[in-house]
Amino acid sequence: MSNILQVNNLTREFKSGSKILTVVNDISFGIEEGTSCAIVGPSGSGKTTLLGLCAGLDRPSSGEVILQNIKLNPLSEDERASVRNKHVGFVFQTFQLVPTLTALENVMVPLELRGEATKDVRKRAVQLLEEVGLGDRTHHYPTQLSGGEQQRVAIARAFINEPKILFADEPTGNLDTETGDHVEELIFDLNQKEHTTLILVTHDLELAEKCDRIIKIKNGLVDSDITKEKASVTK
Ligand SMILES: Nc1ncnc2c1ncn2[C@@H]1O[C@H](COP(=O)(O)OP(=O)(O)OP(=O)(O)O)[C@@H](O)[C@H]1O
Ligand SMILES: [Mg+2]
Repeated sequence: MSNILQVNNLTREFKSGSKILTVVNDISFGIEEGTSCAIVGPSGSGKTTLLGLCAGLDRPSSGEVILQNIKLNPLSEDERASVRNKHVGFVFQTFQLVPTLTALENVMVPLELRGEATKDVRKRAVQLLEEVGLGDRTHHYPTQLSGGEQQRVAIARAFINEPKILFADEPTGNLDTETGDHVEELIFDLNQKEHTTLILVTHDLELAEKCDRIIKIKNGLVDSDITKEKASVTK
């Protein structure tokens, strides 16, 4: 199987006064298409920064990201946005909903950017909001929604362009157990039915265990990288 994502010697540094902070430190790995991978590690270890680099939201200080066989380094900001819009779903740790748009309008944004905001899109957006349990909150603005509700709008928005690869940063972090379980089910359904590759950052070890692979990050380095043995078929 081919790798839908390949990162080679990825490094991200931030300047802090006269010091240089290396937050992602020479990380390399490949992710096979259609698999699920959890990225775990202590707070501040570089998970969100790594995810942003992988999705082309941020640029590395050195090293490269190849997403869907496209090298992101040479691309302009607009070209990277276009790659994201075509192939990537992203659930931000901080949701990043547009405050002036309703829940429904927020979910429709990725397809509006593609110029595909038709009646069907609206119907699909409503359906996605219903699936995340927000069928009666479609016309609420983000400030009128609880944290967990905003998170579920962000998840519906990430699903709407039927991404080949879904990056989700703590997708169940703000949800109660029941809602969290339901969102988990939706995410893994996407993996099973649509063959969507999942890359989930999580502090929830139970969620991480459900993935095919767990990459543990510590101080910007890969601390461990464990792929689950495929269950052998016994006759
Ligand atoms: N733009 C930035 N400028 C300076 N430092 C930054 C910047 N972004 C992140 N950092 C630093 O990089 C480190 C890693 O941040 P990151 O958000 O990737 O951690 P994380 O593993 O996602 O943590 P958490 O589990 O708390 O979400 C932190 O110490 C943070 O302060
Ligand atoms: Mg984070």
